[in-house]
Amino acid sequence: MACTCVVGLQWGDEAKGKIVDLLTPRHDVVVRYNGGANAGHTVVTNGLTYKLSLLPTGVLRPELQSVIANGVVVYPPRFLEEVDNLRAAGIPVGGNLKVSDHAHVIFPYHLEEERLNEAGPGQAIGTTGRGIGPCYQDKVGRVCGLRVGELLHPQHLRERLRLIVARKNRILSALSAEAQTFDADRVCDQYLEYAERMRPFITDTTYLLHQSLAAGKGILFEAAQGSLLDVDHGTYPYVTSSNSSPAGVWSGSGVPARRLDRVVGVIKAYTTRVGRGPFPTELNDGIGERIRRTGREYGTVTGRPRRCGWFDAVAVRYTAALAGADELALMLLDVLSEVDEISICTAYETDGQRVDHFPSDAFLLEHCRPVYETLPGWRSEISKARHPADLPKAARSYVERLSQLLELPISIISVGPDREQTILC
Ligand code: GDP
Ligand code: IMO
Ligand code: MG
Repeated sequence: MACTCVVGLQWGDEAKGKIVDLLTPRHDVVVRYNGGANAGHTVVTNGLTYKLSLLPTGVLRPELQSVIANGVVVYPPRFLEEVDNLRAAGIPVGGNLKVSDHAHVIFPYHLEEERLNEAGPGQAIGTTGRGIGPCYQDKVGRVCGLRVGELLHPQHLRERLRLIVARKNRILSALSAEAQTFDADRVCDQYLEYAERMRPFITDTTYLLHQSLAAGKGILFEAAQGSLLDVDHGTYPYVTSSNSSPAGVWSGSGVPARRLDRVVGVIKAYTTRVGRGPFPTELNDGIGERIRRTGREYGTVTGRPRRCGWFDAVAVRYTAALAGADELALMLLDVLSEVDEISICTAYETDGQRVDHFPSDAFLLEHCRPVYETLPGWRSEISKARHPADLPKAARSYVERLSQLLELPISIISVGPDREQTILC
């Protein structure tokens, strides 16, 4: 069976959740390898909507093994809340979900540190406020990092937290006179309670995945965020703190990248971005507003309005190459049905020069103006289309032009949120 990575090629919210859900029946294991509860993945089926933040979308199919691998940062109350919510919705969660003992743990002081960072005089990124950045910082810094496996050793946890919380309180107080500080023993007691509830889920997921590979099982890797938010390859510093491109699969799961057989790049028919940072094709006009309204472009995690703009083929050519995408899933095509003319950014212009490749520097990107190619819209409802031939000619031309510009086949077209509203090409 094949190993597949489903990855977003823009700034997140490309509708990865829907594609993961569509492809899971062809796999045995579904793995989240990066990020944490900053993700918001939506699956709509039979009129029911499920939103997953920290758990892999695979949990909606209890017959599959779902894994939160070592590259993820875990906020225990959120983990338990999502498990409870699924159970309340009648979806069994038990041995089918495993969490890596190597995943790092998010604590309340991470949330406070992020709040102060974002409110402070430095560079606000417009984060989701889920403690992601500070937790990854502690992971790499090693002095204050705590892993999920350590939650199961009460004495050790208490000793470590006493040292860490004292240090954190000093840092937080230095950042702001109004900073919230924490009591190590209270935090420890609370986390020991979480740990007892999490105990059955915690395991060495790297071993589990190696065993799955040896047994010839198919693994699906579900990326969180989009490749333009990748900490190494995205629009730094306006990125998240993990490798959201498939670059993160190896380090974030222990499965060698060379075991990936297929990379499905997920793209929206236009572009959105939440939070700050350069966005050359952003539309601050009525069309942007119409796309936001029709596409219901409001953040799954924070409810913030998403910034909307035209499709950026320069950016996606870059991320498709970065991801090693074999094929593309084109999502939310129906949202463009109300627009008279549709533009695609095919190059940038800066200081009178034409730029055909994605600038490696977010500050250069800030100065890039899009060069557009404009195609006619189709101005008709397409959400009932189930075959390429059901699409109006102008919609087919748009899809073909994107495929041509990106030099990749578009194997899936999505015309609505429901599982059924999908065209396999
Ligand atoms: P993810 O983070 O990449 O999984 O994407 P999100 O779930 O944050 O955002 C995608 C949104 O678009 C969700 O509300 C989906 O239900 C919805 N959606 C998915 N595919 C389509 C589509 O083809 N058309 C429309 N109109 N909505 C879609
Ligand atoms: P999914 O998986 C869209 C953005 C935030 C912010 C930046 C850093 O649903 O596609 P963070 O909280 O990660 O430190 O915030 O990254 N961001 C996302 N944008 N979709 C996401 O996830 C995102 N996760 C983080 O808005 O700009
Ligand atoms: Mg999302």
